Formats: sequence, C-alpha cells, structure tokens
Amino acid sequence: MKEQLFTRKPLWLLLEELKGENRLRRVLGPVHLTSLGVGAIIGTGIFVLTGVAAHDKAGPALVLSFVIAGIACIFAALCYAEFASMVPVAGSAYTYAYATLGELFAWIIGWDLVLEYTVASAAVAHGWSAHFQDFIGSFGLKLPPQWTTPPFDFNPATGQFLATGAYLDLIAVAITAIITIILIKGIRESANFNSGMVIVKLAIVLFVIAAGAFYFDAQNLKPFAPYGYSGLSFFGHTILGQSGPGGEPLGVLAGAAIIFFAYIGFDSVSTHAEEARRPNRDVPIGIIASLIICTVLYIAVALVLSGMVPYDQIDIHAPVANAFKQKGLYYSQRVIDIGALTGITSVLLVMMLSQPRVLLAMARDGLLSQKFFGAIHDRFRTPWKSTLLTGVVVAALSSLIPLRILADLTNIGTLLAFVIVCSAVLIMRQTHPEAERPFRVPLAPLTPILGILFCLLLMFSLPSENWFRLLVWLLIGFAIYFGYGRRHSVLDKMRRQGKL
Ligand code: ALA
Repeated sequence: MKEQLFTRKPLWLLLEELKGENRLRRVLGPVHLTSLGVGAIIGTGIFVLTGVAAHDKAGPALVLSFVIAGIACIFAALCYAEFASMVPVAGSAYTYAYATLGELFAWIIGWDLVLEYTVASAAVAHGWSAHFQDFIGSFGLKLPPQWTTPPFDFNPATGQFLATGAYLDLIAVAITAIITIILIKGIRESANFNSGMVIVKLAIVLFVIAAGAFYFDAQNLKPFAPYGYSGLSFFGHTILGQSGPGGEPLGVLAGAAIIFFAYIGFDSVSTHAEEARRPNRDVPIGIIASLIICTVLYIAVALVLSGMVPYDQIDIHAPVANAFKQKGLYYSQRVIDIGALTGITSVLLVMMLSQPRVLLAMARDGLLSQKFFGAIHDRFRTPWKSTLLTGVVVAALSSLIPLRILADLTNIGTLLAFVIVCSAVLIMRQTHPEAERPFRVPLAPLTPILGILFCLLLMFSLPSENWFRLLVWLLIGFAIYFGYGRRHSVLDKMRRQGKL
C-alpha cells in the first residue's frame, strides 16, 4: 500500500496523454491567457473584502497588506509557471503533485482545490449579491431582508455564531443557477466573451483609481496602522502584534491573510494549458503578467480607498462603491456596482468552469467516479453532471454560510495548495534535474522556499478556527480516497501490471 500512496505519475506518461488530446483546440495566445487570468482574479476580493480588511484588521495600512499578499503570490506564481511550462496539461496543481509527490499528495491537493474553486465560488456569489443589493438600493429598491443574507453570521471577535433572522441569500442562488446553466449549455469561457468582461472591469478599476484620487485626503491615512504592522498567531495564540477580543489576530499580516483572496485565480491560467498555442512559453507569461497587472491595480485601489474614507467608516459590504456614495457621487456608485457585477460574474464563470475540469482530471485517473465526474453531455459536450453538482454545492454554501467563513476557508485551502506546489518544484529539481524546463523559477531554491514561508505566514495569520476546518475537510477527503480512489486508481493498476 505504501508503494501506491507514493506512486508518481511519470513525466513521460503525462506528455504521452497530452499528445493524444485536444490538439485542435490550441487557440489561446499570451494576451488571451493573461486576460483569462485577470478575468479570474479581479472580483469579490477587491470589491468586497477590502472593506472588512481595512475596517477591522489593518486600517489604511491595508495597502501594505496588499503588498505582502502580492509578494507571496508572485513566489507561488513563478513556481506554477515552471510546472506549467514543463507539464502543460490540464488539472493544474493536482497533476503537478501527481508527477512529483505521488498519488496521496495528488489527492490531497485535488481535494484541496475544491476549497479553492467551489468554496471560493460561493464566496464570490456573495460579493455579487452584495453589489446587486447596493445597485438596486441606489434606486431606493430593497428586497425583503430575510431573503438577502445567510441565516447566521460568525463574529470572530467573540468566536460566536449569531442568528441573522434571514432564511437564505436568494440572489446568490440565482446568479449561481444562471452561471451553472450557461456552463452546462457550453458557452465555454470563449475567450472573447471573457475579454469583454475583463475590459469592463479593468475600465472600472481604472476609473476608481483616477476619480477617487480627486477625493484623496492624506488626513484619512492617520493613524496609518491602527491595528499594528503584524498580526501573527499560532493556533489562536498571538505571537506578534495585537489580537482582538476573541483572540483573533489583527494588523497588516492579518489583513494580508484576508485579502489574499483577491489574488486567487492566477493559477487557473494553468488549467488552460491544453488550449494554449505555445503552452511552454505563453502559460508562464499569462500567469505572471495577470498577477503583476492585478497587484499594481490593487495597491492603487487600496491607497485611493483609504485616502477617500476614514478606515472606520469604510463599508464592509460594498466598500468601493460606498466610498463614492459617501462623497455624494451616486452615478459613480452605480457605475462601480455595474463594473463589480460584471467583474464578479467573470470570476464566478472561470472558477465554476475550473472545478469540473480538475474533477475530470481526477476521474480520468480513477480517483473519482469516471461515470459521474467523467460524464460528458451528448449534445452540449460538457461535463454536465459535475458542473451541476458544483452549481448545487455553490448555491447551498453561498446562500447559507456567511462570506467571511467561506473566504477564510478558501484562503487557507489555496495557501496550502501553493505550499505544495512550491515544495513540488524543489522536489522535481532533485528528482528530474534533466527535464526540459522552458521556464525556470529564478533564484531557486530561494524563491520556492520564500514562497513556502510567505504562504505559511499568511496561513498562520488567519483566525485559528480555519485550521480546524481545514483539518476536518482533509479528513473527509482521506475517507473518500481510502474508501474509493485508492481502489480504483488507474496508475496503480498500471503499476501492478508492470507498465510503469
Ligand atoms: N480573486 C477572486 C476574487 O477576488 C477569487 O473574486
């Protein structure tokens, strides 16, 4: 059994599989790939979570939080780029782990990616709902409150759950249902459709920076770091900096751990490797370029927002749009709401498209039911069963669970995936020094090691209950692997037949 758990999918097999598939669909160039990256990145993080992060965790020093989270992502992105250039197949981090760390780790990361894609989609659907409500609210319309939020909220300060009096967030369910239908019917992330949405959201972000700059007041930056510059805790014990009444970390690092969410998505470029014209060159470009563009924009937005409104008056539901409202700029508020809705839609589309692909890669390897997760619709040619399941789960989570729980859980899961990918680069350099690497992480092993350290730092800066939630999640995953995947593994069958 030990042998199976650590069986690695050989590089030759991955490259062999690649030859057989999808050769005709190689249509994406570097600009398309970068645009897909930006499409997956700019969404709920910048338009919604900046509110909580500035208001409750970092104050105006949120701009430093964006710098720190951006640095962690750049290290991880370089590692993703090396892998994507070496093994340009779909499946992303799951496949990389299978090639380097063996089946068990591949399973762990594949299961973990559900947190990144499905749970993140639920958080993103919340952001959509918040902006929809802000938008109709600007016309004086209001939906019955019992249908606009989840039935409970979590107060990190006290560690307690509170009833909100609502039933569920119906708007989040509606947008999830629409996206699910679109994905099943097969309007795939046609590069042009996505590019249109990306142009709209980039225009809005640039508008926020340019228009907001006129309302910038340096007085609002004082005090710059009301919660301090750190915010590191270790399983609930504050090691560095201040902590809140419930023991949760506060400060720049704690802010970075939240708004890390805003950067998630650049890695989804690697799931398009099979459709890239020159994957070895263009996928690394797409990953790194999209991340750099978003980092620069985020830092500018954080600065402008902190200069526009005192941090304790920043709205936590639709902070950017609300900052313009506070200045009496009602038209701008609506324009930003529309931009946020468009931007968030494109994130939701890419995330909910990526999830069934990772599940498909796992099903092809026999770790999940091929019959269910590998089922392709006769007419639409899409993995309709897993797309539908993803839609149902996203709708349930987004309508019932509060945003901050979903976002933190996504962050810890994604950070774990980044840690594994950075480690896998180090391992692969040892085990396959001869493999062709069209893109090489500069300054290795320093860069992957720094990637691991930065991601761990952010993981520890999240409130401690997230570690327990992650653990429970992984335990459920182990139960599925040992109950099903281990016994159906295609690679293990090949190993036993002496074909590896
Ligand atoms: N980065 C994506 C967003 O902020 C997940 O919506």
